[in-house]
Amino acid sequence: MNASKPKKCYIETYGCQMNVADSEVVTSILNEEGYELTQDMTKADLILVNTCSIRENAEQRVWGRLDVFRQIKEKNPHTKVGVIGCMAERLREKVVEREKSVDLVLGPDTYRSLPELLEEVDSGHKGINTLLSKEETYGDIVPVRTHKNNLSAFISIMRGCNNMCAYCIVPFVRGRERSRDPETIESEVRHLSQKGYKEITLIGQNVDSYNRKKGGKTLRFADLLEQVAGIDHEMRIRFATSHPKDLSDDVLKTMADHPNICRHIHLPVQSGSTRILKAMNRGYTREWYLNRIDAIRHHLPEAEITTDIMTGFCSETEEDHKQTLSLIEYARYDFAYMFKYSERPGTKAARKMNDDVDEQTKKQRLNEIIKLQNQIGAANKKNSIGKTFTVLVEGTSKKSNNDYFGRNSQNQVVVFPKNRVKPGEYVNVKIENSTSATLLGKVIED
Ligand code: SAH
Ligand code: SF4
Ligand code: F3S
Repeated sequence: MNASKPKKCYIETYGCQMNVADSEVVTSILNEEGYELTQDMTKADLILVNTCSIRENAEQRVWGRLDVFRQIKEKNPHTKVGVIGCMAERLREKVVEREKSVDLVLGPDTYRSLPELLEEVDSGHKGINTLLSKEETYGDIVPVRTHKNNLSAFISIMRGCNNMCAYCIVPFVRGRERSRDPETIESEVRHLSQKGYKEITLIGQNVDSYNRKKGGKTLRFADLLEQVAGIDHEMRIRFATSHPKDLSDDVLKTMADHPNICRHIHLPVQSGSTRILKAMNRGYTREWYLNRIDAIRHHLPEAEITTDIMTGFCSETEEDHKQTLSLIEYARYDFAYMFKYSERPGTKAARKMNDDVDEQTKKQRLNEIIKLQNQIGAANKKNSIGKTFTVLVEGTSKKSNNDYFGRNSQNQVVVFPKNRVKPGEYVNVKIENSTSATLLGKVIED
């Protein structure tokens, strides 16, 4: 512990929720070293960028940011610059070679070595560690929560991924799948509940394959959900991401039994064509996926489903694309993240398949998917007019000072005129109108 004047650290985070959670672990480690977070990078002693490699443009953005950090370092030569996370793992040599201003490079499993690496830098060397681990979960580190609303927090329950989808860089940059000790997950939930948090999201690349031995028994994801949901009935429990091949009826039944487990499932489909799903090595067919949609509708009729869709994967034909469109119509997603396939070096797709759908076709198919999904999302919101939802109030709406915004259990954003309620409280809102992405309503006074 350094008792002198706190040093300042500025952290920028890109990529998925896992990176957001990791930046909170890193902040906790840095706090112990006498660093405080700052929002002003020009005043920072240490600038860190937590990076993502999922698509090429994610990496392009980071190179752009490194140009900016270099300029800051030119003005403040004492400032240290570190690249951490998935791109650091993938491109450690290139980062060091191309960016002379980078002092530190840390992969996602090496954050505990940050204090030693900072010392290395102080003694005039670069601090580099990109070893992947089979065990690291940072289970014992209490993250410093950085979500602005002080109501919601991510809890990482597993790291890495064993699935080897043909297009995906994650298994290479995050290593083997490992599940976190349930005791540390539960104590984190209790801790957050005591601090007044109202919503936690259990996160991992494939939460349904959570698997951890406890007292001679194997704890699966449904068991973990059950235990976590019982800690504080006022606390909403969310989770992401579910993998269609592993989403079990047990999980759906556990959700149905616990009203505080949110009625929302993020179930990335990627493609509606069995042939493409097979090429992607996703481990399920179109029929299996549709069966999971039916199971969700059966066990949780009020749930909303969201997804990820990737268009233009190797060998995708117009017919495959049409199957994706028809699956979108069937699933009636409330929302989707939609991407063009981006080849990632070293993956099976890059090594063995042809990225043979031309850019123009990828763009066109993506636009068709976006157009259809936007229509469905908007129609879905319209269907909610007249319904009443319990909303967790998060804060003032970005568009109007007179309105609050919050979310319902389904994870839809609800906007309503301010009244006596305050952020952090639950309130019943009757929906009167909607836009493509938002529900608009009025508080029902009781
Ligand atoms: N673990 C999750 C997804 C993690 S990555 C799952 O299996 O569903 C988030 C999303 O990024 C993926 O669902 C996919 O739609 C997209 N993605 C992953 N690799 C990609 C690539 N090479 N090109 C384009 N999109 C990609
Ligand atoms: Fe990537 Fe597939 Fe693992 Fe998701 S399940 S992280 S898409 S390899
Ligand atoms: Fe990106 Fe790494 Fe997440 S590649 S999507 S930040 S696991």
